[in-house]
Amino acid sequence: MHLFFYIYYMKQLIIINGPNLNLLGKREPEIYGKQTFEDYLKTLQNKFSDVKLVYYQSNIEGEIIDKLQEVGFSYDGIILNAAAYTHTSVGIGDAVKAIETPVVEVHISNTFSREEFRHQSYILPNAKGVILGFGLKSYDLAIESFIF
Ligand code: DQA
Repeated sequence: MHLFFYIYYMKQLIIINGPNLNLLGKREPEIYGKQTFEDYLKTLQNKFSDVKLVYYQSNIEGEIIDKLQEVGFSYDGIILNAAAYTHTSVGIGDAVKAIETPVVEVHISNTFSREEFRHQSYILPNAKGVILGFGLKSYDLAIESFIF
């Protein structure tokens, strides 16, 4: 008689959203769409039911750094939309460099078709890659980058 050992490992990913992304749905809908993130998250959780998907949002730079440090040595992947802090925060950039978990930078809008100050990223030099400009679908693509 044979014994089969089946070990099922569920990947653990976190989406970290930065400032003003709590206003999705009502904030500049012509750029960011009309859907709230909480609503969209349900779609993501259903679509990627084999993944443990955690969500965190903060408007505060230090809290985002704290969260990166907290999850950055145990999770399988981080999907980070640092929003405006992308373009300004040396601290968040350093945190991404300091941790072990790979980070994929995400933006809803195509930041390169917008103002020049949005072309700079302090995250990207230390990220695995970046997905931008596909609306909320950018998050789907980022999750896929961790599982396929
Ligand atoms: C954003 C782009 C940033 O330039 C902006 O400050 C945001 C959202 C995006 O997802 O398109 O708040 O990160």
